[in-house]
Amino acid sequence: MYVVKSPLSDADLKTVSEALQGALVDLVDLSLVAKQVHWNVVGPRFRSVHLQLDEVVDTARQHSDTVAERASTLGVSPDGRAGTVAATSGIGAVSEGWVKDVDAVGTLVEALGAVITRMRERIEETGEADPVSQDIFIGITADLEKHHWMFQAENGG
Ligand SMILES: [Fe+2]
Repeated sequence: MYVVKSPLSDADLKTVSEALQGALVDLVDLSLVAKQVHWNVVGPRFRSVHLQLDEVVDTARQHSDTVAERASTLGVSPDGRAGTVAATSGIGAVSEGWVKDVDAVGTLVEALGAVITRMRERIEETGEADPVSQDIFIGITADLEKHHWMFQAENGG
């Protein structure tokens, strides 16, 4: 069922909608992973890591809304259901239970790295098809890379 008419050709729309849907599930999963670790982190650096994780949650939630609404704008129904996120996210599963602060930071370095790699591929794929969506991916990547830097710095030195 088509409710909203897209300004893009069918071929371009396919490329862009796949990129937006992929970004949506990655960002929803990133917000869930960051909250899971936020609740379960233990260790001497608890407070700083706990607070830093909520900054990632804020970024991921905000940008998940942006990409979902960009899809709707183009006439494509976004799918942010739990089952879809679990089946298609690019982030590996996190283990259950308490997590040491150093491992919490490592989990975020890995998760952010996985999402950034896929987001940069979306930048490459969408430049021709829809520079407006590409611009959104570029902005998201800049924010994610800043978080990635800060978590790498947490475990550096
Ligand atoms: Fe909290």
